[in-house]
Amino acid sequence: MNFLEGASPVRRAKATASTAAPSVLKLCCYSLVVFGAIFLQVTETVKHENFKICSQSGFCKRNRALADDATAAGSAWVSPYELEPASITMRNGKLKGTIWKTIDGQEERVELPLVFSFYEQGFVRLQIDEAKRLKGEIELRNGSKVRKERYHEAEKWALVPGLKLSTHAKHTTLEEAGVTRVHYGGITAFEAIIRHNPFEVRFLRDGEVHMVLNERNFLNMEHWRAKPEAKEDDVDNGEWDESFGGATDSKPRGPESVALDITFPGYAYVYGIPEHATSLALKETRGGEGNYNEPYRMYNADVFEYETDSPMTLYGSIPFMQAQRKGSTVGVLWLNAAETWVDVIKQKNNPLTFSTHDNSYKESTQTHWISESGILDLFVFLGPNASALYRDYGAITGYTTLPPMFSIAYHQCRWNYVSQDDVKTVDKKFDQFDIPYDVIWLDIEYTDEKKYFTWDPLTFSKPLDMVKGLDKRQRKLVAIIDPHIKKTDGYPVSSELTSRELAVKDKSSKIYDGWCWPGSSNWVDCFNPSTVSWWKEQFKFNKFVGSQRNVHIWNDMNEPSVFNGPETTMPKDNIFYDNWEHRDIHNLYGLTFHNATYSAVKERESQNEDKQLRPFVLTRSFFAGSQRTAAMWTGDNEAKWSHLQAAFPMLMAQGIAGMPFAGADVGGFFGNPSKELLTRWYQAGAFYPFFRAHAHIDAKRREPYLAGEPYVSIIREAVRLRYSLLPAWYSAFHRASWDGMPILRPMFVMFPDNEAGFSIDDQFFMGDTGLLVKPVVYEGAESVSIFLPDRQVYYDYKDFTIYKGESSNVEIKTPLERIPMLMRGGHVFVRRDRPRRSSGLMKYDPFTVVVSVGDEGVADGVLYLDDGETYAYKKGEFIHRSFIYNSAGNTLESRDLAPETANNRFVKNMKGVRIEKVILVGVKSGAVGKKGKVTVKSDGKTWDAKVTVEEGKDGKATVVVVRDPKVRYKFLALVITTSHN
Ligand SMILES: *[C@@H]1O[C@H](CO)[C@@H](O)[C@H](O)[C@H]1NC(C)=O
Ligand SMILES: *[C@@H]1O[C@H](CO)[C@@H](O)[C@H](O)[C@H]1NC(C)=O
Ligand SMILES: *[C@@H]1O[C@H](CO)[C@@H](O)[C@H](O)[C@H]1NC(C)=O
Repeated sequence: MNFLEGASPVRRAKATASTAAPSVLKLCCYSLVVFGAIFLQVTETVKHENFKICSQSGFCKRNRALADDATAAGSAWVSPYELEPASITMRNGKLKGTIWKTIDGQEERVELPLVFSFYEQGFVRLQIDEAKRLKGEIELRNGSKVRKERYHEAEKWALVPGLKLSTHAKHTTLEEAGVTRVHYGGITAFEAIIRHNPFEVRFLRDGEVHMVLNERNFLNMEHWRAKPEAKEDDVDNGEWDESFGGATDSKPRGPESVALDITFPGYAYVYGIPEHATSLALKETRGGEGNYNEPYRMYNADVFEYETDSPMTLYGSIPFMQAQRKGSTVGVLWLNAAETWVDVIKQKNNPLTFSTHDNSYKESTQTHWISESGILDLFVFLGPNASALYRDYGAITGYTTLPPMFSIAYHQCRWNYVSQDDVKTVDKKFDQFDIPYDVIWLDIEYTDEKKYFTWDPLTFSKPLDMVKGLDKRQRKLVAIIDPHIKKTDGYPVSSELTSRELAVKDKSSKIYDGWCWPGSSNWVDCFNPSTVSWWKEQFKFNKFVGSQRNVHIWNDMNEPSVFNGPETTMPKDNIFYDNWEHRDIHNLYGLTFHNATYSAVKERESQNEDKQLRPFVLTRSFFAGSQRTAAMWTGDNEAKWSHLQAAFPMLMAQGIAGMPFAGADVGGFFGNPSKELLTRWYQAGAFYPFFRAHAHIDAKRREPYLAGEPYVSIIREAVRLRYSLLPAWYSAFHRASWDGMPILRPMFVMFPDNEAGFSIDDQFFMGDTGLLVKPVVYEGAESVSIFLPDRQVYYDYKDFTIYKGESSNVEIKTPLERIPMLMRGGHVFVRRDRPRRSSGLMKYDPFTVVVSVGDEGVADGVLYLDDGETYAYKKGEFIHRSFIYNSAGNTLESRDLAPETANNRFVKNMKGVRIEKVILVGVKSGAVGKKGKVTVKSDGKTWDAKVTVEEGKDGKATVVVVRDPKVRYKFLALVITTSHN
């Protein structure tokens, strides 16, 4: 939620009742009145004036100007950065040296220590720091007490430990040629060619250049200097003092930005750097037809009524970019948590601009990365393909955590379920209408006057009874807990936070006060380990009374959102643990907070992992590494078709950037969706990795059972589809948790040789299932056109119509009840088809195995399952099987992918679980007669089972259904024999 919603009557009443300092209260109510008036005119667009554009952010403006000057000067431009050849040393995979920056017209040169780290897996890290600042030989302005170094601790939060440096990397310096060459790499041979003067790096794979750093000479490290005497003709470029939104930034260290250009030769497509409401394939940002004029911005912020098709910043950021060209993938991680801007432009290739290359690459992408502070810290990945890239990126930042099963089922949320009776009623209604759901959510109104860890004594007087009631059907409650702590007497959370010095400070080292939901508030500083220990205490059942095992947590407003702060967040000169400035760590704040919450929920009952349940934490703000402990959603979207359209590209970008557990509010947060929009949104939401409906406090109630017919039935179908596919979703999450493969897979990831699919972002493959889905996102759509990326056969999920055509589109009719969904030939996936009230009740339900036979007559797929709630899977308590169909002999086999260990409690519990149905789609006509028969081999025995055969006609596939083959999931083989009697 965002503060501008404060216009609602409920909000206003609560706000006036709070015990805020008078000045802040005044400010608040002024805002309420002004914005209230706007709000009544209903949804306008985002308030651009509340957020900076590049030219209002001094360092962005300066670096863009440098880029323009360098470009205009062309070869006459002299880059001031030179690597001193004599300084180069190489030991244990680390190449060190000194870059000298020559300052125009001055004697002095600036010393910039450089480190290249070459890792065993084949990626490289480049770090450039500033010697004077490392040594603390600078003076801070205005007696500031902040740290003198450039911020270098992002790795502490974003990266996982344990990376091994390469012992094979070899370097040679060729002084005459002015270069140092480093050969490195794992499976594939890589090379870095480092030019000394001006400093530039080319990265080669198999002898071809795939990436160039500082080719355009935009490298810039604004070195420390004392503020010069002001002269008459000085142009203010925001180096020393900057004001925005009524706040002045004191900049104790002066200007200190870092910037670099990164070119991807021959790569016409780049993706990633979420979060932006934009197309999956990133657009150019320096003007021109259909392009943006502003760079993509990453400065986590609570953007009220954000607009779609925009490079504006949103709630979270992951500075990871993937570049794609036919048959090749590379990527970069720009590890910097300060405000960051990225310009993207494309260049028609001049065949002479890079050494060896294939002339078929017509375009290159040039990017320019600009951050306000910190060291220059960059990881370079040379692919060669998407799976290698995601595996490597995950090796650095960690893979997405394996979530509890309930959290990938359906969530029902609203700001707010107003009382425990309301919760009970909604819970009952879902059952009455036979719509499955797993989780009901409580937004801020459940608290006693916005004091987290308390309950409103009138409306939620018996929270334990409520959550116990939910537990009867294995349902959960998710309650919101935000990082702003109400400043008020008689609230131990507040007094402990401040008296123990665990809160964020302002520039003069006093505890920082700001305005948020509770009124005057302080913010927890989870960069401080003592804050994390204390935070963990708050979640113990004897502290957060009313919570129990089935209660999980939602962390909102953690950008952090501060209603009266510049750009709705804290001043940049606020001070955090260890005297780092807010400027340095801004984009990490949300991660440190949700990570602390995750640890708190995990450990609330026990320190012993054997006794812990996997927590579920939803966060709005995130950074690289957030995937290890949280799911995200796309924040406060609107009940508009344009926002439904924006969601899939955003969720796919999350998957590319390693954080696939992502969703958008179903129905749209602001406003009231038409019934058609709501219905289509459920159909789309059933394919969001995180599937939650949510609504603003002023929106009309819209629980799915209220929609009336035919909408209720259609929505029920969509939700049930999600539940029936849960084993397939869980298997996809499992894969993401060990090798980083996205869950919603764009065309370019699956078919990297087919450029026609590179900019498609409204359809996707779901995990390894071969399901190709394109939910309807346009009003009144009577059909959609699905792009078939390859020449494999595809079948309609519902009626088994056959579709074929390489790189062509097929038209699918889309009456309201229809979700356009095809099954690619060659895949097997597993469903559970019995409708239940919650996923927990499906735990031992029988399976349906769906085989989609490919052109080659084969198909395969995997099933991963475990208890879905504990960490026992880490000790081998899971099943992981593959299913393999072969038309030669018409056999379907089930094989172990990991040995099922003897003491495996989960396998024991699953012992009796059967396959109740096998559906084989696209069985070659004639292979089975009208009454085929199936021979089953299992546990050393053999028996027959009945089949029904639907002979393919009118463009439909032949479908063989084996009903109740009386086999356990561990069956060895089904042999479908021909029989014409
Ligand atoms: C820095 O200190 C000077 C002199 O004390 C004062 O005039 C100025 O306002 C201060 N600047 C900031 C940004 O705090
Ligand atoms: C991707 O590249 C790796 C080499 O790092 C190779 O082992 C793997 O087979 C490739 N995967 C695909 C799908 O081409
Ligand atoms: C994040 O949480 C994990 C899991 O509880 C914990 O082990 C880790 O230390 C935390 N990481 C950071 C950077 O706080």
